[in-house]
Amino acid sequence: MKPKTIIEPFKIKSVEPIRFTTREEREIILKDSGYNPFLIHADDVLIDLLTDSGTSAMSAKQWAGIMEGDESYAGSKSFYRFEAVVKSITQMKYIIPTHQGRAAEKILFSIVGGPGKYFPNNTHFDTTRANIEFSGSEAVDLLNETGKHPEIRADFKGNMDVEKLEAFIKEKGAENIPLCMITVTNNSGGGQPVSMQNIRETKEVCKKYGIPLFLDACRFAENAYFIKKREKGYANKSPLEIAQEMFSYADGATMSAKKDALVNIGGFLALNDEDLAMKCRNLLIVTEGFPTYGGLAGRDLEAVAQGLVEVVDEHYLEYRIRSVEYLGEKLVSIGVPIIEPPGGHAIYIDAKRFLPNIPPEHYPGQSIVCELYLEGGVRAVEIGSVMFGKYDKNGKLIPAIMELVRLAIPRRVYTQSHVDYLIEIIAEVYNNRNNLKGYTITYEAPMLRHFTAQFKPLY
Ligand code: F0G
Repeated sequence: MKPKTIIEPFKIKSVEPIRFTTREEREIILKDSGYNPFLIHADDVLIDLLTDSGTSAMSAKQWAGIMEGDESYAGSKSFYRFEAVVKSITQMKYIIPTHQGRAAEKILFSIVGGPGKYFPNNTHFDTTRANIEFSGSEAVDLLNETGKHPEIRADFKGNMDVEKLEAFIKEKGAENIPLCMITVTNNSGGGQPVSMQNIRETKEVCKKYGIPLFLDACRFAENAYFIKKREKGYANKSPLEIAQEMFSYADGATMSAKKDALVNIGGFLALNDEDLAMKCRNLLIVTEGFPTYGGLAGRDLEAVAQGLVEVVDEHYLEYRIRSVEYLGEKLVSIGVPIIEPPGGHAIYIDAKRFLPNIPPEHYPGQSIVCELYLEGGVRAVEIGSVMFGKYDKNGKLIPAIMELVRLAIPRRVYTQSHVDYLIEIIAEVYNNRNNLKGYTITYEAPMLRHFTAQFKPLY
């Protein structure tokens, strides 16, 4: 029997209009925002792929949860539902709500971090790295070699390099490594998954040296689905069972609920160590709030709890992973260079191969981002020399290793026809690639310049 089309596993009860603009209008909007899509008003964007974080569509049951939310300061009913659901997935003893992922990171690393300490990860997300460095410690990425090559197709490009991890522990001393992390899926490179075997092997090394293993679990359900599809022995397990096994190797987890809990705000810390949990709760009270709400309203806790139930649904995950893969496949078929294979939450266009004639000093990724907006009102983000470029002593740009454009796909927000439209727009930009121009920066802040930088096209 011919396989059937994988459809959106929901029908739409509430809609939000998107605003159409003309190319002439977009030319003015883009110029007025200094050719920086971060500065465009969201209302002037047709398809917004800036991030998959906090942009999910909530379900009818989540909205019902918003009404049900118990706003008691202490001991809210909504907290206990949230705690029960998070425990059912993570099997961890202490669940601490926070307002988003970086708040969980801030609390954790304020306690376990400090000068002279090291935190290995497959790849740290920016905020994780920033919170570690802010505490005075060093954040170290130990991604496996395959994961560093955009053109190599492999099943688990997010894996930790376990051998390097062991060598690193021997070099720095286990006593200087308060914990080791694995980010599932690995956000850099578009959400490449980590295999169960790799989590298990990482745990074994950590255990040998008495180092706790933590998951950065933002996209745990997407990772679980990749394991189901790609790793031997998991085809007949449910995503929930696989997620439970992933967490069973961990001693703790940080979570941004803005991703795989299908909500617009929220996060948590999950821990097994009682003493650490007590310290985290004490700090939580100072920075986030009482331990049964931690920076969230009761209604948010309800929405997170319900989202976590929905995200491990197999039909949802099949649709989710397939829709990103569909976008990736179509782009590859028309010759658009992307990081392969497509990851869980985003497609990364390889701007170096897309625009070989525009050198890094003229920001090829920014050129594509601007053209996607002009052509079709699509907002994407440059992840290349605008974001990561530095200057040498003489003010010459030291480019980023890769020049990428991220198309992050919000969860349950866009339908297949939106994706088909997106493919048409990217194809149009690609066909017109020989006419694309580079950009120069006319204003930049001393730190995190990509958020506020202003550009000028090199016509
Ligand atoms: N860890 C990972 C792997 C992330 O991708 C993010 C956020 C965080 C931690 C921080 O969570 O935003 O709730 O504080 N990633 C977003 C993105 C911002 O666009 O990839 P947060």
